Amino acid sequence: MNSPLTDAALDQLFRTARTYNGYLDKPVSEAQLHAIWELMKYGPTSANCLPARIIWCTSTEAKEKLAALTMPANGEKILKAPVTAIIGMDMEFYEQLPELFPHTDARSWFVGNAELIEKTAFRNSSLQGGYFILAARAIGLDTGPMSGFNNQAVDEAFFAGTGIKSNFISTLGYGDPESIFGRSPRPEFARFNTVV
Ligand SMILES: Cc1cc2nc3c(=O)[nH]c(=O)nc-3n(C[C@H](O)[C@H](O)[C@H](O)COP(=O)(O)O)c2cc1C
Repeated sequence: MNSPLTDAALDQLFRTARTYNGYLDKPVSEAQLHAIWELMKYGPTSANCLPARIIWCTSTEAKEKLAALTMPANGEKILKAPVTAIIGMDMEFYEQLPELFPHTDARSWFVGNAELIEKTAFRNSSLQGGYFILAARAIGLDTGPMSGFNNQAVDEAFFAGTGIKSNFISTLGYGDPESIFGRSPRPEFARFNTVV
């Protein structure tokens, strides 16, 4: 049986973790990008479909290409961050199911069912985006998720010729405390929860 994490771990993952708009001048290694994947890949997805496909923009060239396709304020953050991840979703994810979910013929649930493909890819790649944020925090990094960009333009620039579409993007690095706004409200249980 698992024990609850320490208060310090809960702070790092949730309570004192923040969304960062800027980062310290401290590099992020490729080994750390691998470490994030090696944790986030264990987060559950339906039928273990793992639809997320990530492009990690680390070069100035890649960051400039991406920044040009975002809202201007978001573009500035991308140019200054050590890394920006594009969390994409493979709309042909079901082709991998014979390997990823060998217990049954899950591929056949999706072939020709565009609505189910769309819903499943978006739901599960969004979950994987959440696992990405928590994995980054778990290894001591910070993130700045953003949806303020032109999805179609990003798809053409980064995913041309594939069945992959962008979901959201996120800066990554060692967060600069000077770059955050005051914490927005997080209401108490009774406001948004019901126990039946
Ligand atoms: C999916 C998603 C999209 C977001 N899009 C943007 C964005 O385009 N630009 C931006 O500045 N912040 C964006 N944010 C940041 C949120 O406003 C921020 O995470 C939220 O207010 C919580 O902040 P906190 O973690 O510091 O409490 C986004 C966050 C998420 C999760």
